[in-house]
Parts: sequence; structure tokens; C-alpha cells
Amino acid sequence: MSSSPGVGLQRQTEIYLAGVRGQRPQIPFDYEKLDRLARSRMSPEAYAYIAGGAGAERTIAANRAALDRWKIVPRVLRDVSDRDLSVELLGRRRPTPLLIAPIGVLELAHKDADVAVGKAAAAEGVPVIFSNQASRPMEQVAGAMGEGTRWFQLYWSTSDELVASFVGRAEACGCEAIVVTLDTKMLGWRSRDLDFAHLPFATGMGIAQYTSDPVFQSLVDPSTVDVSGRPTPAAVRSLIRATRSYPGSFRENLRSRIGVAAVRKVMEIYSRPSLTWDEFAWLRARTKLPILVKGILHPDDARLAIEHGLDGLIVSNHGGRQVDGAIGSLDALPGVAEAVGGRIPVLFDSGIRAGADAFKALALGATAVLLGRPYVYGLALEGEAGVRDVIKNLVADFDLTMALAGCRSVSEIGRDCLELVP
Ligand SMILES: Cc1cc2nc3c(=O)[nH]c(=O)nc-3n(C[C@H](O)[C@H](O)[C@H](O)COP(=O)(O)O)c2cc1C
Repeated sequence: MSSSPGVGLQRQTEIYLAGVRGQRPQIPFDYEKLDRLARSRMSPEAYAYIAGGAGAERTIAANRAALDRWKIVPRVLRDVSDRDLSVELLGRRRPTPLLIAPIGVLELAHKDADVAVGKAAAAEGVPVIFSNQASRPMEQVAGAMGEGTRWFQLYWSTSDELVASFVGRAEACGCEAIVVTLDTKMLGWRSRDLDFAHLPFATGMGIAQYTSDPVFQSLVDPSTVDVSGRPTPAAVRSLIRATRSYPGSFRENLRSRIGVAAVRKVMEIYSRPSLTWDEFAWLRARTKLPILVKGILHPDDARLAIEHGLDGLIVSNHGGRQVDGAIGSLDALPGVAEAVGGRIPVLFDSGIRAGADAFKALALGATAVLLGRPYVYGLALEGEAGVRDVIKNLVADFDLTMALAGCRSVSEIGRDCLELVP
């Protein structure tokens, strides 16, 4: 994918010409269809974890409603033959205003998990944000990505040493920024997962950044594991997965129960509920990388982020997974963008499904947008190729939306392109 003029038209042509030869695309273009097809390829528990939100999922609905309230008002008879999708972000020109959101436990969708996503993002020229809860260690994904841009998303653990280690590893494997997610000091009340009594981390999934970390390894103490009680088949499966997730000999790890001890340790230390703004001075002193915060919804928090020297922020409600009844992410964007006043980049996620959604977020003040669930569904369907198709389709759709709205470049997308139609 490139930002060259006509990326939308190229993609359309490619698809329609393949159609002439009788070939139909494997990845549906409509999000609802993509969701349905991916669901049919996943276990019910995996789909519940990916698709689900907090409580009655009112905030997932609010994300959609917020995007739908704004309508694009296209302008005509402007020369849009040459278009530029690129944006300036953290001192670099990026080919498109799109990034890949950090999403944990991608092994639920596909065995190649983060490696497939990293390769797809690199091939499409889109930065990827590695999740703290990834299924593969960041070094492995970075190693498969060549020069592809990567950032690292951090959950601030109760262990300072572990935080410092994660950040050091992110620097060493070429990450260009640290994104600290603020909205997940604890997990939201996720009804679908609660119904299945299913939390991936508790079964040894999504803990690869930890088990590959020397500081984490020094914190794990297998002697604390209580092995009393009758094992159930589910418990044995979890034991095997947790044991496999730990480096070293499977047999030795099984004997020592270190995999189970690691799982328990992750659950104990993964986040720090006491975290406050003042602690960012500590992080600032430990890395030269730009630090962004993810999960900002209030203009005052945006001002505080700037006061505390942060380099960017992401307006997000975590895809409706944390606070049921929280404001739709796009409803929060204009106020945050106004408070920021262009001093730092304002990124946006939660609900981006199509080109028009990205267009609306950019029109309301976002510098760039993060793609979430749609790429996970592409991954579930076709692995790396599926993620590439989802990215290509979104960029093509965005390009055509921009052109048809009468804009030649992202800088021309502004508030005057939209009308609020409640
Ligand atoms: C299954 C799943 C796992 C996620 N894991 C993480 C994570 O590890 N770290 C993080 O900062 N955000 C995580 N998120 C939130 C995403 O980064 C992003 O904010 C969200 O997916 C946006 O909503 P959308 O997918 O509905 O567009 C996760 C989201 C989903 C759906």
C-alpha cells in the first residue's frame, strides 16, 4: 500500500478485474459480515473475548452512534485527481493516518498471532502498536517486520523493574514510541467472558511479554504453587498451555510448575491501580522515546497529559470494554482536541470500521486513527493475508471517501466537511 494518488481506485480495479476471472475476495467488505464470518471460525470463548464489551455493551453501541450522528457533506467540482493521504506524526511523515491498535491475546484468532499482524502492518506501511498482553514476544514480532514501524503499549505493572525492563526491550527492538494505556487499571465487568468464566491470561494466553522477560522470570517462584485438589480436564489443558508459554524444557517446566506460577504472577502484577500522573516523571527519566497515553476521554485529562510532558494522547474507551455507559469515543474527541489545541498529536480509536469513520475522526481533530477489531477478524479468517486485506480495504475506502467529499489531502479534512444530524 502506498499513499500514491488513486490507491482506492487501484484496489477497486484489482477486485473487479479478479471478479471478471471469477475470483471473489475472501474477506468481506462490510464489517457486520466480516464479524459474522470470523465468528464462525473461532471458539465461542475466543469470539466472546474479542467482540465483547463491558456490562450491557452500551458503550460499544455509543461508539457506533457517535460516529453515525455526524454526516459527511461532500463538496463537488474540485480537482481531486491527485491525493495525499500522508500525515505528520511524532516527527515523521506516515503514508496514511492509520495505525494498528494494540490488541492482546491474538492467538485466540490465529496461531501466527502478533507475528502475522506485524508482518501485515509492515507490508502495508502502517505502524503497529505491540500489546503488553501479546501472544508473542516483541523481539520475535519486530524480527519478522524488517523496517516496519512499531510502538510498544505498556500496562504499568506494580513492579517498577518490570516496567523498566519492558521499556528497555521496546527500545532495543526498535519501537519508536511508548503508549501507556490508562483505562485498564483493572479489567472491566465483561459479561460475555464472565458467562464463560473465561479469562485468557488465567489459562496462560497473552502473557508472552512477561514469560520472555528476565526481570519477570526472576519474580516467578514455583514453590508458591499449591498443587492440592483434583485436576479437571480444563485445568490440565490450562496447565499444559501455561507450561508451554514458559521458555525452557516443557518437561522440566511441568515438573517445577513454573508455567502456573508465571500465570499467577502476571495476574498479581499486571497493573497498578494506584498509578497517578506524577509517576510519569519516573518513566520520562527512563526513556528518550515519545510517551503517549491511551484512554483519554475528558478535556481536563488531556490538559494534564500536556502539563506532565506527554508527547501524544489517544482518545479511546478501549472499544467499550471498560466502563459500560462511558461516553462514545467520538463524542469525546472534539472537546479533547480543543483542549489540546494542536500542541500534541491526538489519536483516536473505538469504532473505526470504514473509511468514513476515519474521515469523521480526522475532521473532528484527530491526527490519526487506530484500527482495532476489524483486523483481528481478518487475522482469524486468513492470517497475515487477511490482516493485509482489511488494511488495504480501509485505506482504499478512506481514499475514495476523501476524494468524493472533495478533499485532496488529509489537511483539507476539517469540521466544515461534517454536519451533526442527531
Ligand atoms: C480483544 C481486544 C484486546 C485488546 N487488548 C488491548 C491491549 O492489550 N492493550 C490496549 O491498550 N488495548 C487493548 N484493546 C483496545 C484496543 O487497543 C482499542 O482501543 C479498541 O480495540 C478500539 O475499539 P474497536 O476495536 O471497537 O475499534 C483491546 C481490544 C480488544 C477488542
